[in-house]
Amino acid sequence: MTETNTNHLSWDEWDELHNPPPAVTDFDRVVERAVSRRGFLGGILAMGSAAAAMGTLGNLMSSTSAQAQEAASRFPFKPIAIATDATVHVPEGYSWKPLVKWGQPLFSNVADIDPANGVSLEASDKVFGENTDGMELFVIGNSQVIAVNHEYVNNKVNLPNNEEGMPKSLDDVKILQHLQGVTVVEVTEGADGFEVVLDSPFNRRIHHNTPMKLSGPAAGSELIKTAADPNGVDCLGTFNNCGSGKTPWGTYLTCEENFNGYFGSTNAEFTMPDDFKRYGIAVETRYGYEKFDERFDVSKNPNEPRHAGYVVEIDPSDASSTPIKRTALGRFKHENAAVVIARDGRVVVYMGDDERGEFLYKYVSNGIYVPGGDTSKLLDEGTLYVAKFSDEGTGEWLALTEETTGMKMDEICVFTRQAASKVGATTMDRPEWVAINPVAIEAYCALTNNANRAVLKDGKMRTNAGGDVMDISAVNPREANGYGQIVRWYPENEDHADGKFKWDLFAMAGNPEVHKDGLYAGSSNINSGNMFNSPDGMMFDSTGLLWIQTDGEDSNEGDFVGQGNNQMLAGDPATGRIERFLTGPLGCEVTGLIWSADKRTMFVGIQHPDAPFPDGEGKLPRSTIVSIKRDDKALVG
Ligand code: FEO
Ligand code: CA
Ligand code: CA
Repeated sequence: MTETNTNHLSWDEWDELHNPPPAVTDFDRVVERAVSRRGFLGGILAMGSAAAAMGTLGNLMSSTSAQAQEAASRFPFKPIAIATDATVHVPEGYSWKPLVKWGQPLFSNVADIDPANGVSLEASDKVFGENTDGMELFVIGNSQVIAVNHEYVNNKVNLPNNEEGMPKSLDDVKILQHLQGVTVVEVTEGADGFEVVLDSPFNRRIHHNTPMKLSGPAAGSELIKTAADPNGVDCLGTFNNCGSGKTPWGTYLTCEENFNGYFGSTNAEFTMPDDFKRYGIAVETRYGYEKFDERFDVSKNPNEPRHAGYVVEIDPSDASSTPIKRTALGRFKHENAAVVIARDGRVVVYMGDDERGEFLYKYVSNGIYVPGGDTSKLLDEGTLYVAKFSDEGTGEWLALTEETTGMKMDEICVFTRQAASKVGATTMDRPEWVAINPVAIEAYCALTNNANRAVLKDGKMRTNAGGDVMDISAVNPREANGYGQIVRWYPENEDHADGKFKWDLFAMAGNPEVHKDGLYAGSSNINSGNMFNSPDGMMFDSTGLLWIQTDGEDSNEGDFVGQGNNQMLAGDPATGRIERFLTGPLGCEVTGLIWSADKRTMFVGIQHPDAPFPDGEGKLPRSTIVSIKRDDKALVG
């Protein structure tokens, strides 16, 4: 790495920088690429023509005035303008306040921290963690319990007295380890809005050292045995917990994303196992754990990184329960895990692998979900599929089996990217969250951006880390995609377990103020008033509105002028209309959205602000979940 100060980067951005795009690949064939963008996008951009140059497309947006009014009424708020300041903005008639911020005690025997001095080792696993991300709300008896991820740390904020926030001892490493992972916390609503219930029996911190079990096809495999885990079933910690999921049986799914960045080598000459390259495991790490904690030194514990990169199931109703890493759902940079029950009762989980040129996955259980029945094997026994998108608006799910990949099942579950490459999956523009419409048989994935998709003039092509060509395709139609797009698919036979689907683009983000070319101006549902870049978090509310959160370029300059700070918008699947609901403080990513049981409060995550939020001028920034209500206390989702 050449850049030294990377503290301001989100982990997604850090990983992009740390794992530069592979060199272009030469092909021994003449690449015939009569790329007709007009041909690609005709009929695929669902929301109409962004520009006449793109041909005749759907005309869903050309509604009558009565229809337009009805569409407008889908949005129970007056859209807001962009912002570039240090606070949160919501529409007129709504108010927000902090619910919980990093360092806030979960137990009454822990003192409030002084952010200027960080947190003590003793308190570090009893406070709300750093960098709030995906979350879910569970109603357990009469309690409302939030399970929420802490993706990574802002080490300059968390170790404020260390140079560049870098750990200088094992104790420093432990503080950082404790501030990541997951918090389970009960909340309750009083006269002044929602607040944390101190000492609730549900309150719990799960972090980088919490004992966990591995289950599914990779459990017990030689591939994952370590000196500390000779049976390949016990491991410590969950890492880089990004997006989330929730099962119908009341468990939380936390998704391990850029786990690679924690495992390094104190021996620069160590020969990394072949599979490390595909996952970006390298000598250098972001926080230098390996210098103080041998578990993270791959020259001493080469199989340890294979304990990470999974979807982890947590029972939020039992603070003594052991989290379970479900290897059947594959090992990659998991964004989130969107769960839906298929027509016949099988469990379907959609999952994105957030790295440029990686893939979109689906898991289908063998067994069916029966309310109140045994759910212990539903995420262990099933088939993993990977998506292949055609340029004609159809697609198929390719099964990853011993027959299709030539790999054994444990290998498929540990080297999932390599398995998916073997079957010819479509390289995607960084799949982030998947959201499933609760009122229609369709699902959406945010393809956040990809600056490096390119086929160069001399026929050389860019590839993902596995050498798969990142060619331009209808679903990833831009060479230098700084804005991102949202793809939507409709399973055949209205069944999420079906092997085929149709798809279109719900939105191509862009900047119509800067670009006249339809590809970069964005689809017709993007305009000067609602534009954004880098869609990331996505969730549906119970009414079928799609909420879109961004983690993108907030310079408000150049290609991004007029887009302001990161934000949250709402989209109407029926009309394609998108309106801005919230803007975050400068430097933040808006990520994580849930609703209270009565749907009168929404909770939104503000991650890594680079401004004195929420405590005000002169104070260190603190990642915070904010609660938002309508002043008239009406429903908000
Ligand atoms: Fe943690 Fe890809 O977002
Ligand atoms: Ca994300
Ligand atoms: Ca992101």
